Amino acid sequence: MPAKPVTAVIVGAGHRAMLYASYAKECPDELRIVGVADPTERRRRDARAEFGFPAENCFESAEALAARGRIADAAINGTMDHQHVPTSLPLLAAGYDLLLEKPFATSEDEMWRLVEAARRLGRKVMICHVLRYAPFYAEIRRRVAAGEIGEVINMHCAEHVSYHHVAVGFVRGKWNRRDQCHSTMLMSKCCHDLDLIAWMKSGVRPVRVASFGSNFQFRPEKVLPRAGTRCLLDCPIEPECLYSAKKHYLDHPRRWRFYAWAALEHVKNPTPEQMYEHMRTESPYGRCAWKCDNDVVDHQSVVVGFADGSTATLNMVGGCSKADRTIHLIGTTGEIQGSMEDERFVVRHITPAPGGPEFSEEAVDLKVAGDTTGAFGGHGGGDLRLVGDFVRFLRDEPRSVSCTSLEDSVSGHLMGFLADHSREDGRMVEIPRSGARA
Ligand SMILES: NC(=O)c1ccc[n+]([C@@H]2O[C@H](COP(=O)([O-])OP(=O)(O)OC[C@H]3O[C@@H](n4cnc5c(N)ncnc54)[C@H](O)[C@@H]3O)[C@@H](O)[C@H]2O)c1
Repeated sequence: MPAKPVTAVIVGAGHRAMLYASYAKECPDELRIVGVADPTERRRRDARAEFGFPAENCFESAEALAARGRIADAAINGTMDHQHVPTSLPLLAAGYDLLLEKPFATSEDEMWRLVEAARRLGRKVMICHVLRYAPFYAEIRRRVAAGEIGEVINMHCAEHVSYHHVAVGFVRGKWNRRDQCHSTMLMSKCCHDLDLIAWMKSGVRPVRVASFGSNFQFRPEKVLPRAGTRCLLDCPIEPECLYSAKKHYLDHPRRWRFYAWAALEHVKNPTPEQMYEHMRTESPYGRCAWKCDNDVVDHQSVVVGFADGSTATLNMVGGCSKADRTIHLIGTTGEIQGSMEDERFVVRHITPAPGGPEFSEEAVDLKVAGDTTGAFGGHGGGDLRLVGDFVRFLRDEPRSVSCTSLEDSVSGHLMGFLADHSREDGRMVEIPRSGARA
């Protein structure tokens, strides 16, 4: 008999949780959405219209849902970073397994509280490390695990955050201040990359970390002469500015619609005039990028040492012309180097034969192989593949190489929290064993 669909409640019906929930539309025999918890009435109404569950399954918060007891197998928790742990603890206590957004905590202390609760209650918690599911990283991991390049000596990874992404997220937007989102830029943007680093060295413990970084560009003393406070209100140099709100949001109204136009969600089809006026007068995204209240870094470098003596570096740089994630793994018998944006990597092998080339090279082009994002959405196709594995995780069915439990996510998160301590305190930090608090 075919397995019954897993039932789930959306917790925090924002753009991420609704995207994961859309898997129920693609694969109704695997996932059924049966309720929603969100303080915003409109978001509850939209979720209900989308998935057709009864009104009594709409709740004003995760806490109110938990107080009702368990109405589904799982909760898809897409609340903001600092709400992940406070909203998840009552859900775990009520009996829910969780698909939980990253970063799943904003400090080591919070992280351990969640891990200990999940362990004690025996709940399944999967963190949305969507990049593990991008065919690019899944195929690289498969080859590393198969020993194709021997033992990994060093990894250098980079995340190039585009100029428009850094501006919308980390200068003008929701992740621009510690006291607002409670995450650092490293944790909100690169906990994926740190997770990938831990994953590529799976079974080998990261033991120490050091990090440097700063807000280099978006500070008041670097503002261009004559700049105003708002691009469309009082700025005479808007036409030549690379960070003009008109160029970033009005000229590309769909690119960052979840952030730039969230405050107009209540308007069905806002007119260009309404959007212009909103950007001119009240939207935080209409502010001069050099005159915001941002206090997070715009670039950061991390060095990690592993227990077997191997090392890894991660360079996160905001303000790049082209967004990309790159990885270069060097092993004892070969190397893998690629770009996620291009969905291509090469595998090189040492070939010390007399008279021949020094190395062989195999090019792997996932675009050509046809295994690209397709119907499976963003993050290199990772978003909805992850939900498929969550369903299999809950049904105790065989999962993909990418499947990650809460315990797996601890290593990468610890690296990130401690890298930020290193950056703030100017010292190298020892990483405690991931099974225990420091
Ligand atoms: N996996 C990824 O690659 C990825 C990408 C982008 C964002 N994220 C993460 O996803 C998360 C959500 O981001 P978003 O942009 O979708 O957020 P969002 O602001 O659109 O949605 C959050 C929702 O939570 C609701 N909420 C607030 N308090 C609540 C409570 N107590 N109970 C239930 N709901 C509550 C809000 O009303 C809101 O609708 C963030 O943590 C973000 O860092 C992950």
